[in-house]
Amino acid sequence: MTDFNYNFNSCPERNGYGSLKWDKFQGRDILPLWVADMDFAAAPEIIAALQARLDHGVFGYTKPFAAPVEAVLNYLERQHGYQARASWLDFLPGMVPAINLCVHAFTQASESVMTATPVYPPFLSAPDYAGRELIKVPLCLDSQEHWSLDIEAMEAAIQPHTRLLILCSPHNPVGRVFTAAELTELADFCERHDLILISDEIHCDLVIDPDAQHTMTATLNDAIAQRTVTLMAPSKTYNLPGLACAFSVIENPQLRQQFQQTIRGIITEVNCFGYAGCAAAYNHGEAWRQELLRYLRGNYELVYDFIQRELPQITFRPMQATYLAWFDVSALGLKHPAHFFEQHGVGLSDGSPFDGAQHLRLNFGCPRDRLEEGLQRMKKAVGTI
Ligand SMILES: Cc1ncc(COP(=O)(O)O)c(C=O)c1O
Repeated sequence: MTDFNYNFNSCPERNGYGSLKWDKFQGRDILPLWVADMDFAAAPEIIAALQARLDHGVFGYTKPFAAPVEAVLNYLERQHGYQARASWLDFLPGMVPAINLCVHAFTQASESVMTATPVYPPFLSAPDYAGRELIKVPLCLDSQEHWSLDIEAMEAAIQPHTRLLILCSPHNPVGRVFTAAELTELADFCERHDLILISDEIHCDLVIDPDAQHTMTATLNDAIAQRTVTLMAPSKTYNLPGLACAFSVIENPQLRQQFQQTIRGIITEVNCFGYAGCAAAYNHGEAWRQELLRYLRGNYELVYDFIQRELPQITFRPMQATYLAWFDVSALGLKHPAHFFEQHGVGLSDGSPFDGAQHLRLNFGCPRDRLEEGLQRMKKAVGTI
């Protein structure tokens, strides 16, 4: 690890900063390996841009101005081959409010929403909060034991009043990068059933499998582009969730208008640091991101090998993206798996809110020695069963 230009091995102290991740276990010897927030400091290039913005000294209301807009448009084209226009963009203070507002914008009370489970919990709560029926279709394993979308089961489950499909691509929590062929099948499904597709692609720049490539849903073909609402943010990749800056890309003017009317007066402006961080991430963050991916790949291999070798009772299938490992712990026979591991000093995400009871999610976006310690604690814990 000596050939790294950026330091991922040591991290700033987070106690005392209101960290959601760390404060949960404050005062207890529990390693927080849960919520999707990495322990690494942001790229120095981003910190410098934020410092320059701070030095300006005036923090007035800020609209989506040229610097972040151009940074996003250039990034979409450079990274994902997507030629978007400025008028298709809306900046948002978070993806979660956007997911919730999409449900309001694009469905009536009598219409239903479909998603593939297990999945990021706000996909499940958003229809519930809006009083819409939710149709959950479990992911399936394909012939190569990859998690995949079960189009056949989706065909069987769809209702005449289903209007919206919420996709997580790449998929949190299973870490799958769907191929263009799989996404095209999904696009055809949306076309057949006249669905609007909310494509949450927040993890798209965290592909750790060198053989996998992310495809933006909206780049598949014109038909799906016209029914897609893409939601993205630099926050996962560059570890900036506290800056609260995300964006939507909506090509279809009618859908865009529906969305904009719904968020009006409800969604706040993105703040000036959010814009500065977003522009710096996309314009100057690539060298840091490449090293981050290399570091995360090393962490993933550590977790994978450790689980196969030391904890074979846990099923952990190979993953391609994200820094979130999804464990099936049903063979351990635990009543409350997350509580059990907390009692043994490891704070993992409980699978139940993802619709994955008897599963746990481990965040390996942390220094390697912390990860090693967490895995050793897990082994020790399992040894007590
Ligand atoms: C799939 C997915 N969407 C959205 C978010 C959160 O987005 P935001 O912090 O912008 O609300 C996360 C965070 O983990 C996520 O995994």
